[in-house]
Amino acid sequence: MNNTLTDRYGRVIKSLRISITKRCNLNCIYCHQEGENSNTGQEISGDTIAKIVASATGFGVDKVKFSGGEPLLRSDFEDIIAALPELKNISATTNGILLSQRAASLADSGLDRVNISLPSLNKEHYGAVTGSPQAFPRVLEGITAALDAGLVPIKLNMVLLKGINASEIDDAISFTGRYGGDVILQLIELMNFKNTERFIVDIDGVERMLESRASQVKERLMHRRKKYFIDGVEVELVRPIDNSRFCANCNRLRVTASGKLKPCLMRNDNLIDVGEGASPEEIKELLKKAAGIREPFYKG
Ligand code: 5AD
Repeated sequence: MNNTLTDRYGRVIKSLRISITKRCNLNCIYCHQEGENSNTGQEISGDTIAKIVASATGFGVDKVKFSGGEPLLRSDFEDIIAALPELKNISATTNGILLSQRAASLADSGLDRVNISLPSLNKEHYGAVTGSPQAFPRVLEGITAALDAGLVPIKLNMVLLKGINASEIDDAISFTGRYGGDVILQLIELMNFKNTERFIVDIDGVERMLESRASQVKERLMHRRKKYFIDGVEVELVRPIDNSRFCANCNRLRVTASGKLKPCLMRNDNLIDVGEGASPEEIKELLKKAAGIREPFYKG
């Protein structure tokens, strides 16, 4: 156990989710902003990211996911990726708008795969959620570019919203199925960060529907997320709310855009500042400290 980042609840940190900017070119009605509502405007440097990741790999962390804001708004994103040590998997969560220009260079830099936020396949609904209907065709181009660049499997992130897209799950499954196994649909329970009560979907009902239609159900280790296989399409359900099983199996540590270690999406009272000048030894201690204060948000 010595050489891992294990918290008091026996959870071993295996991955980092690193926000690299608060900036975004969309304005989604539900956005949780990775649980960080303050914005200093300061953005973590590629050098500090490389140091944090290198230190974390010394503890067995082997996966990194980049998020934002919109990570592709960082013009040095390719350099950030290229500077990372060897990892099992490097991915990014993007809205896809800029992917058609960047997918190939990101793949060349070492990015393995992407998650693309796609709340609706209906342009008007897409616009109602994101504030930018005109972005919709660019996102579709982004999906094609990501496939061409081999950034697979692509996960399409669909946060479920009552009255907007909850009735579009079937469409999303058929759309995903067109790409064979290269695209996975990820249905996500809405987390109410922005007075979005009216959009909350009966997630038990969604789960029952998926279960009744699935030819096979599997479970991921991470968060014990369920994966349903429906008409040959892989559909993953992300159900974080009031879910102690989800929290008990959380193996990620977050890093904020301003360079703070963030043990939990849901809390901002236990952040640990890394600082641009920190040495690898100091960062190792800070990672251990972050693991030490980590606790499940929903304990059950
Ligand atoms: N609830 C659930 N998921 C969210 N995301 C952003 N805001 C929320 C929220 N309120 C997820 C979406 C998006 C990714 C960046 O974060 O999956 O694709």
